[in-house]
Amino acid sequence: MIIVLSLNTAIDRVLQVPLLTPGTVMRATETRSFAGGKGINVARNLLRLGEQVRVVGFLGGSAAAFIKERCAELGLEARWVDIAGETRTCVTVLDAASGGQTVLNEPGPLITPLEIERLLDALQASVSPGDLLCISGTAARGMPDSAYGHIVQRMKGVGVRVLVDAGGPGLLSAIEAGVWAVAPNEDELRSATKADAPVAEMARTVAGEVEIVLVTLGRDGCIAAVDGRLWRARAPQIHELNAVGSGDAFVAGFLSATAQGLEPMEAVRLAVACGASNALRYEPWIGSREEVESLRRQVEIENLALPA
Ligand SMILES: Nc1ncnc2c1ncn2[C@@H]1O[C@H](COP(=O)(O)OP(=O)(O)OP(=O)(O)O)[C@@H](O)[C@H]1O
Ligand SMILES: [Mg+2]
Repeated sequence: MIIVLSLNTAIDRVLQVPLLTPGTVMRATETRSFAGGKGINVARNLLRLGEQVRVVGFLGGSAAAFIKERCAELGLEARWVDIAGETRTCVTVLDAASGGQTVLNEPGPLITPLEIERLLDALQASVSPGDLLCISGTAARGMPDSAYGHIVQRMKGVGVRVLVDAGGPGLLSAIEAGVWAVAPNEDELRSATKADAPVAEMARTVAGEVEIVLVTLGRDGCIAAVDGRLWRARAPQIHELNAVGSGDAFVAGFLSATAQGLEPMEAVRLAVACGASNALRYEPWIGSREEVESLRRQVEIENLALPA
């Protein structure tokens, strides 16, 4: 089974206006709301890929009922830890005139040490040996920088492989704890390693401590360091509508293929296809199986010479 940690769950609210004019009152011509946050995005994509998924995360305040209902509609099994704070709402304003998007993200609730303990207990009770665990995005406010490393160590103890898609100190703590896989974008990897080196070299350095290193590069696909070898996967050329969430789709594709027993680079092929599929639409999720399969066939993988 694949377990997804959702530390920064959100209500995603999208409002469309004819012409975004700051400093004025505008009437939205279209509004939509759905359950969001990186963890939920990954979980939704996993469901679309036919996987069994369980979400573990924080939920609090009036948003909780809405999120629970949306998860039930999706058929998403979730184990929520109640918190005193209020789960956030993230607003995207779509400007019909330009097609541009303005995103307003709330900071998210502050989590108490007791709530963190409860989450760790809920996670421990939700996993079994052989499971895969996905941790995406920054930790919740109030969680220490070392939290991801701590979770990785705990999960190692029960035979659960962890993938972390994050940056900064959270990613660094996971790398230092010997996490199974990482999937940051280039900026996130740089923010964790503070390295100035070319991306392939950074990937190789991290591969000294991590079994699978995937560095996503937007429309340029990704670099992968696996089994002492370095690879480049080229993304299909598409008409990008909105690539926000492509990293979450990429992670879902990789984990789904891994759960199906595919080799890491075949899993990368599906990951890249899912990232591209997400970018084909405004919403942060992948398209049909046929669409993903057609994109998968267009992904090109080449072996790169290891940097000296
Ligand atoms: N315009 C695009 N065309 C084709 N493939 C894309 C495009 N954008 C993203 N992808 C695919 O999706 C993957 C992940 O995208 P990206 O590197 O932008 O992730 P990210 O920065 O983590 O995004 P987010 O955090 O918003 O989910 C890329 O490695 C690539 O394979
Ligand atoms: Mg990302």
